[in-house]
Amino acid sequence: MSVIAVSPAVGSFCITRSAKMVSRPRVVMAVGSNTISGASILTKLQKDCATPLPVLRHVVDAMADDMRAGLAVEGGSDLKMILSYVDALPTGNEKGLFYALDLGGTNFRVLRVQLGGKEERVISTEFEQVSIPPELMFGTTEELFDFIASGLAKFAQKEGGKFHLQQGKTREIGFTFSFPVKQTSIDSGILIKWTKGFAVSGTAGKDVVACLNEAMKRQELDMRVSALVNDTVGTLAGSRYWDDDVMVAVILGTGTNACYVERVDAIPKLQDPSSTSGRTIVNTEWGAFSNGLPLTEFDQQMDAESINPCEQIFEKTISGMYLGEIVRRVLLRMAEAADLFGHSVPEKLLMPFSLRTPDICAMQQDTSKDLEEVGSVLYDVAGVNSSTNARKIVIDVCDTIAKRGGRLAGAGIVGILQKMELDSKGLIFGKRTVVAMDGGLYEHYPQYRRYLQEAVTELLGPEISRNIVIEHSKDGSGIGAALLAASNSKYGHDI
Ligand code: BGC
Repeated sequence: MSVIAVSPAVGSFCITRSAKMVSRPRVVMAVGSNTISGASILTKLQKDCATPLPVLRHVVDAMADDMRAGLAVEGGSDLKMILSYVDALPTGNEKGLFYALDLGGTNFRVLRVQLGGKEERVISTEFEQVSIPPELMFGTTEELFDFIASGLAKFAQKEGGKFHLQQGKTREIGFTFSFPVKQTSIDSGILIKWTKGFAVSGTAGKDVVACLNEAMKRQELDMRVSALVNDTVGTLAGSRYWDDDVMVAVILGTGTNACYVERVDAIPKLQDPSSTSGRTIVNTEWGAFSNGLPLTEFDQQMDAESINPCEQIFEKTISGMYLGEIVRRVLLRMAEAADLFGHSVPEKLLMPFSLRTPDICAMQQDTSKDLEEVGSVLYDVAGVNSSTNARKIVIDVCDTIAKRGGRLAGAGIVGILQKMELDSKGLIFGKRTVVAMDGGLYEHYPQYRRYLQEAVTELLGPEISRNIVIEHSKDGSGIGAALLAASNSKYGHDI
């Protein structure tokens, strides 16, 4: 497999340090003697972030209620409950050469796969990944899509070896576009809004497949988008290819979202319930959930200064783009009000998003007596020499924020499962049900993963939770999108 440029080891779930947030001018020297201690700020933080069982149960019920309200009418709740137009999941019979294109975070990926049907399955795959230059996240639609189309064109030129396109056919693409899109068919959809720090002008309200087609035309690239899918939907399709029990897919990376298999008769807003399988995939866009979350003043400030205030509150509480930034805000308060790093406030700590989620994750893995790794991250990121005591407090802050995020994510998953269980009367909890997970936050942050699993077990009890398998599906979304391109091929499938 070839890779042109990969993001840093634990790094794919964070935006770059140059993220555009409004920063306030600040006094760098602390003035006078501080009477508040770091420990007291920590105690208040832990109290405000606490997620005891009643809080989690509230999130479970509110998530299930919001799902129902979003399925009833368009705009019925915070959760958009977007219909994916994916009514049939891959069967294993898919054959031929297909491409996938994945745009959704700091990287964009292109992939090709040669499918060999039930016998040979995935004969070969190849992918390349490139980081999105930060300026393109704030540029124009044409600039972003030209960048993508040119990456795709370069990748397509290198096709050879085990990859063969049947004569007379056009190369088909599954386009994973991981932002809220109002699907208008399996191969078209209108961007509702950007998330995850993207603020590209002129795309909201446009069909993103048309944007890609125009850019491909400018590159003289003759390829066709056969399926436009969210990354959650790609993950569900990719995992289902190997395991029939997969019913839910969740992304916990830079951003977060979940999709699941829904019965068409449980979707009142569906105008054409003609799905042959009687089921369809619903993209919840759960990042917009906000009901009853334990939020702190740090969350509120971060939200107010973000490029999308009052939006994506669940995402801002549990996803990789934001966990490091929340910790930075707490540490800054501790430095200003409690002299955590001595009498002056480290200037670098004033910069929004300077502390990234991979940094807090790395600090939490430090088991040394003097917390040397914590010291070196703090030195690199904030330019401070820290005492062992200060480092211990920093670890506790990281743990508090990761714990809240992981447990709330777990409650979100149980909310979806509970909704499915109540509607299907026993078909979820009474048998093996798999939740496919992807995203760098879930993959690389062991404490976060543990907190998530613990919350699921606490909520469901030991017996039911034995039936609920939370499984990491690495990079399933790329193959999933290619499989959906195959099952929605204009040449028909099973050929
Ligand atoms: C987007 C979703 C996406 C998720 C994970 C969110 O910000 O709104 O569409 O699935 O991130 O990538």
